[in-house]
Amino acid sequence: MAVSSAPGKVYLFGEHAVVYGEPAVPCAVERRATVDVTARSDGRLRVDAADLTLDGFTVEYGGDGAPDVDVPESLVEAATGYVDGAVEQAREAADAPEIGFDVAIESAIPLGAGLGSSAAVAVAGIDAATRELGVELPPKELAERAYRVEHAVQDGEASRADTFCSAMGGAVRVEGEDCRRLDAPALPFVIGYDGGAGDTGALVAGVRELREEYDFAADTVSAIGDLVRQGERALDANDLDEVGRLMDMNHGLLNALGVSARSLDAMVWAAREAGARGAKLTGAGGGGCVVALDETEATRTALHYTPGCEEAFRAELDTEGVRRED
Ligand code: MEV
Repeated sequence: MAVSSAPGKVYLFGEHAVVYGEPAVPCAVERRATVDVTARSDGRLRVDAADLTLDGFTVEYGGDGAPDVDVPESLVEAATGYVDGAVEQAREAADAPEIGFDVAIESAIPLGAGLGSSAAVAVAGIDAATRELGVELPPKELAERAYRVEHAVQDGEASRADTFCSAMGGAVRVEGEDCRRLDAPALPFVIGYDGGAGDTGALVAGVRELREEYDFAADTVSAIGDLVRQGERALDANDLDEVGRLMDMNHGLLNALGVSARSLDAMVWAAREAGARGAKLTGAGGGGCVVALDETEATRTALHYTPGCEEAFRAELDTEGVRRED
């Protein structure tokens, strides 16, 4: 048996535009997915994802990829896509194409809510499954293999941002294939969660269509890139007021790309009115989470009372990426 965990993340700046080669700055946060893997010789894959969604389910299937379950297809696809991909990567890395696994996933990261749950499951899953087969991969290789999983599940439209951040931990900068850790000041994150989820693949495809049809959308994507570069300078100068202002602007630009939602806008405004330095949606959007910057309790309290907000919590930057838990 091998057990690994990897953190979720928030985007300080740059989601969506990063898919087109612009830079982005995601930051790992102290909410983890833990994947427990035991090899089995019959080639079958059993996935127990009790904590991955609110409903919880177990799927079992063999090499033909047909799950033997009675739960909504979208949930099965969400869990099995990433777990299948992680298992395939581990089989390839360990040169063990026929091996099966029992996989149990526990996650404190809500699924599809912009906190990088799928990347964390893929990173931790590949680490646990390869270690179970006697192979230790360095975090950068785990990140690259997890990226291939996301890329396949998101129909070829994914950046390296979520997977690199989850594997390495801390604040990172991703621009195309250039991925590195950043020195960042303490960032007092407050997260508001509407209890829902967005469909990352559909949202990314929607931005692509908009960008192809309207010049303003292509300009908006490059404007996000410029904003990220300004954000890096503000981080470097430890200027949290400027970081907050740029987060507000980044939310506005994401709104122009059509990826926000009423619940996300309501939480962003509640955070700003409570005195947060800045607030924006995080991740693909459509529903899920916002991230605000505030060292006081005011934003968390305001979010807690905002209609449509199901949970509001503080999240510290997690400087540790993937880690062994066995
Ligand atoms: C999703 O967490 C972030 C997006 O930028 C997609 C990606 O980077 O793969 C929307």
